[in-house]
Amino acid sequence: MTSIDRYAVFGYPIKHSKSPRIHQIFAEQTGQSLEYSPQEVPAEQFSAAVARFFAEAGKGLNCTIPLKELAWAYADKKTERAQLSKAVNTLALQADGSILGDNTDGIGLITDLMTNHAISLAGSRILILGAGGASRGIIVPLLEQSPHSIVIANRTIDKAVNLATEFQDKGSISGCGFSNLKNQQFDLILNATSTSLSGQLPPLPECLLAKNGVCYDLAYSNEPTVFVRWGLENHAVKSLDGLGMLVEQAAEAFFIWRGVRPETRPVIELLDSERKPTQFTT
Ligand code: ATR
Repeated sequence: MTSIDRYAVFGYPIKHSKSPRIHQIFAEQTGQSLEYSPQEVPAEQFSAAVARFFAEAGKGLNCTIPLKELAWAYADKKTERAQLSKAVNTLALQADGSILGDNTDGIGLITDLMTNHAISLAGSRILILGAGGASRGIIVPLLEQSPHSIVIANRTIDKAVNLATEFQDKGSISGCGFSNLKNQQFDLILNATSTSLSGQLPPLPECLLAKNGVCYDLAYSNEPTVFVRWGLENHAVKSLDGLGMLVEQAAEAFFIWRGVRPETRPVIELLDSERKPTQFTT
């Protein structure tokens, strides 16, 4: 008897994760036979829980907040993008029994911006709000698209400056505080702070968004986040949240595990249609 391939997402909390649903749809769509379940894992139990999962014939794991740095430390080998981002959201069992760590968040964002929303990044002035783990994971994939420049603005200025310094050999990138943003304009503003989750917004000067500029919140919610609303109020041509990025990073993980690329658009459309009917773009 052959047993079904097992996958899971570990996080804390995990109850509201959309990942099990997304992977179930991917599996049905591609005719893959697998099981994907959510598991609430506190940080202090992470290593033991991962070891048990793979010992019990688990094939692959997604790791989400607050476990991505621990997953990075756990992996036997890491892809270059995971190595640079110092965070891992995908663990995959390899043929030799080792565990490969990857980070699909950055490529998920790029695919959502460029493929799903036809947003061009080459030559654009990009502002990233926040200098935590979420920002770190998207810097290199963004720089690879040859933007004009990236500015990281953060409440704790040192963190923004240090993060920018780490990647300065890869493109034009600098760090500053929110008050240093006066008189500057950006074509794309990405919110990578954790403020959306608490319904807050970093202090942003007026006129920050250039004409035809785009706002993108890495967080997602059933209602427009405060930052998505800020974008709409500031005449963003598109003001998006991270639902598309979530589905795209999941598709990339699915590809790593199964070698098959699911179609993401119908999944994004389905999940979007289940939210409250709200206008997310102007
Ligand atoms: P994540 O892994 O999700 O990025 P994190 O590493 O804790 O989480 O980073 C959270 C980010 O949100 C940080 O940039 C944090 O700013 P500080 O570095 O100054 O702490 C930012 N952040 C959280 N609450 C904020 C607030 N109320 N206003 C502005 N920035 C905030």
